Amino acid sequence: SEAPVVTIDGPGGAGKGTVSLMVARRLGWHYLDSGALYRLVAVAAARDGLDIDDGDALARRVGQLRIEFHLLTDALQVQLDGVDVTAAIREEACARSASRLAVHARLRSVLLPLQRAFARPPGLVAEGRDMGTVVFPQAPLKVFLTASVEQRARRRWLQLSAAGVDASLDAILDELRRRDAQDASRATAPLRPADDAVLVDSSDLTADEVCARILGHCQERG
Ligand code: C5P
Repeated sequence: SEAPVVTIDGPGGAGKGTVSLMVARRLGWHYLDSGALYRLVAVAAARDGLDIDDGDALARRVGQLRIEFHLLTDALQVQLDGVDVTAAIREEACARSASRLAVHARLRSVLLPLQRAFARPPGLVAEGRDMGTVVFPQAPLKVFLTASVEQRARRRWLQLSAAGVDASLDAILDELRRRDAQDASRATAPLRPADDAVLVDSSDLTADEVCARILGHCQERG
């Protein structure tokens, strides 16, 4: 594809979602939340009674799903077969299933063309775990966004509290550690920075500061 791509990868809770949306808005570019795709597959599997450990069955089903992403003013709206699943894909149980089914190589490969189709002019901001390493290896700017696990858990807890969800910080910390370990240790497309990625630690930065830093790197690379 001719369109430039900025990839933003990193572990859960590092602020990828917020920051990627901000960067996409500022550049006026398209936006891909690849985690939402894995979460969608988890929702479809639950709906249709598919086994999330059967990667081939999941891979076959993907072609039959009608997946729609709508970029609203400050959020991404996600539809599966005409049903709004924006809230459903954010549930913890969904994240857990998504992380588990994301290990299947066959499933990952059928999701590749879907993700690459987002790279259209004037450009794309793509966030996930393997955007820079596997999906868009030619991207001129690759960011690997991290933060301490304690900071990530605290942010997730604040987010949930703001949404009126009663959650324990310790439970969130455990869950993040478990998901980090699963994402980093899988054989296919494990979470790791691309060799040419810029590392950004968001532990002591606001979302605005992270966004500014990424836009700065964008300018450097033309
Ligand atoms: O980023 P998010 O929390 O929405 O991702 C949910 C899960 O989907 C992750 O834990 C990860 O296992 C998987 N994922 C992936 N590759 C991506 C994006 C997400 O394997 N590019």
